[in-house]
Amino acid sequence: MKEIERSFDAIYNRRYSRRWLMKTGAASLAFGCGQPTLTKSESTPVTNQINNALGAFDFEGLDAVLDTEHHVAKGHIVQILLRWGDPLFPNVPKFDSHKLDAKSQELRFGYGNDYIALLTLDEDRLLMVVNHESTAAGLMFEGEQGYAAQKIDNIQIEQTAHGLSIVELVRKSNRWTPKLSSIYNRRITAHTPMHLTGPVAGHFRVQTAADPSGSVVLGTLGNCAGGVTPWGTVLTCEENINHYFRGEIRDPIELVTQTRMKIPNPHGYEWFREDERFNCQLHPTEPNRFGWVVEINPFDPESTPKKRTALGRFFHESANPVITSDGRVVIYMGDDTAFEHLYRFVSTKSYVPGNAEQNADILDSGELSAAVFDDEGGLRWVTLKHGVGPLNSSNGFNSQADVLIDARRAARLMGATPMDRPEDVEVSHHGDRIYVCLTKNPARGTADNPESNSANPRNENFCGHIIEISPPKINGKAEHHSERMSWDMLLMGGRPEDGGEYGPHHDGMTFMGCPDNACLDPQGRLWVTTDGAENSIGCADGIYAVETGAQRGRITRLFASPIGAEVTGPCFTKDGISLFASVQHPGLVAGFDGAQPVTRWPDFDPAQPPRPAVVVIQKKNGAAIG
Ligand code: FEO
Ligand code: CA
Ligand code: CA
Repeated sequence: MKEIERSFDAIYNRRYSRRWLMKTGAASLAFGCGQPTLTKSESTPVTNQINNALGAFDFEGLDAVLDTEHHVAKGHIVQILLRWGDPLFPNVPKFDSHKLDAKSQELRFGYGNDYIALLTLDEDRLLMVVNHESTAAGLMFEGEQGYAAQKIDNIQIEQTAHGLSIVELVRKSNRWTPKLSSIYNRRITAHTPMHLTGPVAGHFRVQTAADPSGSVVLGTLGNCAGGVTPWGTVLTCEENINHYFRGEIRDPIELVTQTRMKIPNPHGYEWFREDERFNCQLHPTEPNRFGWVVEINPFDPESTPKKRTALGRFFHESANPVITSDGRVVIYMGDDTAFEHLYRFVSTKSYVPGNAEQNADILDSGELSAAVFDDEGGLRWVTLKHGVGPLNSSNGFNSQADVLIDARRAARLMGATPMDRPEDVEVSHHGDRIYVCLTKNPARGTADNPESNSANPRNENFCGHIIEISPPKINGKAEHHSERMSWDMLLMGGRPEDGGEYGPHHDGMTFMGCPDNACLDPQGRLWVTTDGAENSIGCADGIYAVETGAQRGRITRLFASPIGAEVTGPCFTKDGISLFASVQHPGLVAGFDGAQPVTRWPDFDPAQPPRPAVVVIQKKNGAAIG
C-alpha cells in the first residue's frame, strides 16, 4: 500500500546530503560487487559465492519515465487483463462506477489488486488468484475524498472490493482471457467466513461476542503479497490491518499489543460505522483475528480459508514456502513496518508429496523465529517460544498464543534486528539464496529512532535495498532450518548520490527506488517490482530484472507504471512467455483528487475513474521474457 506523506522538497534536500555515508561509513561496506564473501557458521559450511550458472538478461532496458500511461521495454507488448469492476461471472453488466453497489462488487474484480498466483489447470488453462489489498475512496467514488469512504453505501462497496479474486484464465493464440463460466471463479471479501487454526484458535484473546468459540472470523483484510505451497494452496498475507480499526482500547493487555500494531488508526477506514466489530472499544479482541497468513484452496470454491496462527501475527507481506533438507516446510516472512523484523517458520512435520492428509494442516505446528543480523555477515535465528528467555508472564506472555498474537514484541525482546520495512522474501530455485526486499525507512537515525546497522546501512533510507541470505548446505541441500546463515548486500536502491550501488556491471543510468515484491522466472533469475520510485528517484514504479549471477547487482527496467501506481505481484507462466503483474492504485498521488485524477489509466474514459488492473507482458515475437 502506498504511503504518500512525503514532500518533493524533502526528497531533493536529502538527495544531496549524503548524510548516511558520513554516519555509517557505508562507502566502505562490501556490497555485492563480484567478490564472494566466505563465512563459516559454527557447525556447517556457509558459502555466499556468485551463482555463475545463471544467464544474464538480454533485453534493451526501458528508460526512466513518469507520465499518465504505462510503458514497456522495446520488443514487448502489454495486455490489460482484468480491471477493478470487471465481471467475474456470467450475466454481470459492464462496469460503471456510477452504478456500483456492494452486491454487484461481490461479482466483480476487486480494487487494489496486489499479489498474483498462477496455478496450472492444463497447458492452456490457469487458475489466477489475486489479492485486493486496499481501496481509495477518493479515486473510486464521486463525492468522496481520501482513502476512506464516508457514505455507508460506499463503505459497503469497499468491504466487497477487498479480499481476493479467483478466476480461471484460458489461452488462445497466446493471449490469456478470463473464463466467466468457470466453476472455480470466486470472490473472497471482508465478509467471507474463515477458520482460525493453530495455537491461537479458541484462545480467549480471539473470542468475541459474535464468535465465543474464537475460531470463525469474517473476512481477510489488507491482503498484500503471498505464496504458493508445494501442495497447491495459496497463502495470502494480511498486512496493514490497523487501517480497519477505530475506537479507544481500554483493555490493558490489548492496549500494549495493539499499540505496537498501530491500532487503532484514527485516519483509517470508517467501517466501524457500518459494522461495530471494527470498533475496538466495543470489541477489543477483534483486531487479534487479523494480521495472519491465510491458506486458501483455490481448486475448491466451497473450501473455507484458514488463518494459520502458528506463523505469527504482524503486518505480513509475503509467505513463499520452501522445503528444507530434511523435508520440513520453511517460510520466510517480512513484517512491512519500519523497525520491524524478518521472520521464519519451520514446520514440525515433513511435507510428503501426494499425501493430502499429512500436508493439509502442516502449517498449524512449528517454530517461529526472527532474524538477528551481525556486522560480520552472519545471521542467527532466535526462536519465539513461550517460556524461553524473556518470553514469560513478567513481560505479558502467558502462553504461546500470547507470543504469536504479539510476535513483534516477542521478537524485539529476543534481540531481533529492527529492519527497514521487510517486504517480499523470495527463495532461489535451488534454495541456496534468500532475497529480502527492504523497501525504505526514512525514519532511521532520526529523533529517537534506531541508527543504521550493517544490514540497514543508511540513515534516512528513502530508497531501500535488497539483502541476499545464504543458508548452509549439506550434500547439496540447503539447510533452511539452520540456526545460522550468512548474508550479503545484493544492491542498494537510489541514485549514486543517495548511495545507490548496483555492482561493477551497472549501466550507470538505471536506478531502482524502493524494492517491494519479487519473483523468479523459469530460469531462476530474479525480478523485482517497486513501490515508491516517484518519491525516491523521481520516476514511475516498475519491474526490473536483477542480475544475481556474474553481473550481480546490475538492473534492467522492463516496465513502468502510470503515475501514482505501484507495481506488485509479478508472476511468470511456467513457459516464461507471459509475465503477469498488478498495477495497483493508478492516480494515487499526494492530495489525489477523484474529480480530476492525474490519470484515468487504463481506459482514459472521461466518465470513469482510473482502475487498478492486472497486466500481462509478453515479447512481440512470442519468446520467453528476459
Ligand atoms: Fe502492501 Fe508492504 O506492501
Ligand atoms: Ca508496498
Ligand atoms: Ca507489497
